[in-house]
Amino acid sequence: MRTTVGIVGAGPAGLLLARLLHTAGIDSVVLESRDRAYVEHRQRAGILEQGTVDVLRAAGAGERMDREGLRHDGIELRFDRTRHRIDFPALTGGRSVMVHAQTEVCKDLIALQLKEGHPLLFEAEALAVEDATTARPRVRYRHEGRDAVLECDYVAGCDGFWGIARRAIPERLGRTFERSYPYAWLGILADVPPSHEELVYARHDRGFALLSMRSPSVSRLYLQVPEGTDPDDWSDDAVWTELERRFETDDGWRLERGPVTQKSVTPMRSFVHEPMRHGRLFLAGDAAHIVPPTGAKGLNLAVGDVVTLARALIHRRDTGSDQLLDAYSATCLRRVWQAERFSHDMTALLHRTPDAAPFEDRLQLARLARLTSSRAAMTDLAECYTGFPLG
Ligand code: FAD
Ligand code: DHB
Repeated sequence: MRTTVGIVGAGPAGLLLARLLHTAGIDSVVLESRDRAYVEHRQRAGILEQGTVDVLRAAGAGERMDREGLRHDGIELRFDRTRHRIDFPALTGGRSVMVHAQTEVCKDLIALQLKEGHPLLFEAEALAVEDATTARPRVRYRHEGRDAVLECDYVAGCDGFWGIARRAIPERLGRTFERSYPYAWLGILADVPPSHEELVYARHDRGFALLSMRSPSVSRLYLQVPEGTDPDDWSDDAVWTELERRFETDDGWRLERGPVTQKSVTPMRSFVHEPMRHGRLFLAGDAAHIVPPTGAKGLNLAVGDVVTLARALIHRRDTGSDQLLDAYSATCLRRVWQAERFSHDMTALLHRTPDAAPFEDRLQLARLARLTSSRAAMTDLAECYTGFPLG
């Protein structure tokens, strides 16, 4: 098979790239190792920045998001049994975020891709990207029990942190920057209306907790747990009891319980691979960088990368110039490092390290007190949370 852009991975990065290229008249083939149901139901991100919302709308994939998504104008920070609201529009000149699940974004992008007859192969596992530094890069893959080759002009490695695309970059030509954290998130989905209309980020001596949602009737909640925790070690009752403790306030706020429909543990990692390009191979999204989830930047970063890549590929087609493709890695990395910084700082601000000294605890509380009392500090948080420019 032959195409202009071979896309490895049908997560949000690969699917949106295919859509953006299609609307510009550039053909692509998407290879995805898992089946459709798995991709459509994998529970992950829930918060879309304003810029991501705008891109999805412009790509013709915003109709259901606009109908079902929930516009959020702020978040609550909770510590020392007190509540503090950060008002996004008031601090940023009108910006907000949208609560809309990654699963739903992926479902709509898949439906559009298939409806318009573009190749999107499920259960097609890419094995290797070859000849990336030539004019004819190739993706070797396995589909329906047979080995095959996708010949391309360009390859987009959108295959997430565990994918194969990054491996095509020789080690001596790349550099990785990494940090792991001694804790993870235990996440639940529950059939109960969210107990608060906005997200609540709580710092507690027993660890971090987050109240989020997927719809007016489905709550999404997270608890900081030790790294390596087995979700089966937590009964539903134990999860609710721990959430209640960490969210407890002095003003009588109550957490509503409901049936837990899903429970999983997410490890936390910061990771960046530089550069994000090798010849005609371009890495995008989690294939190139990971952030810890605090602050909800991962999906939004993936969107920023593929917008930049689509623009560069369209520029090349229209002008013959490689200028934007040559700038791709540096352009993305500027935004990536801002998100790395923000996600790391939000994580450090709200999580409790297992061996934290009392001095650290006091500093953390002092940082939170400053963050919720200074307009300058609140503005910085609101600007970062609602999103960095698409670059
Ligand atoms: P992925 O979604 O990982 O997609 C990669 C795809 O490639 C997958 O479908 C995979 O099956 C496929 N693949 C892998 N290897 C191969 C291969 N060899 N051949 C073919 N296909 C392959 N981000 C936010 O912005 N906001 C949030 O609120 C948020 N919350 C999160 C909460 C949790 C619990 C987690 C885990 C993540 C969260 N994130 C959030 C991060 C976000 O989900 C990711 O950053 C996002 O999924 C990255 O998209 P991607 O397309 O780059 O990678
Ligand atoms: C969600 C995830 C996040 O990482 C975050 O900061 C906020 C919300 C979520 O899954 O809803």
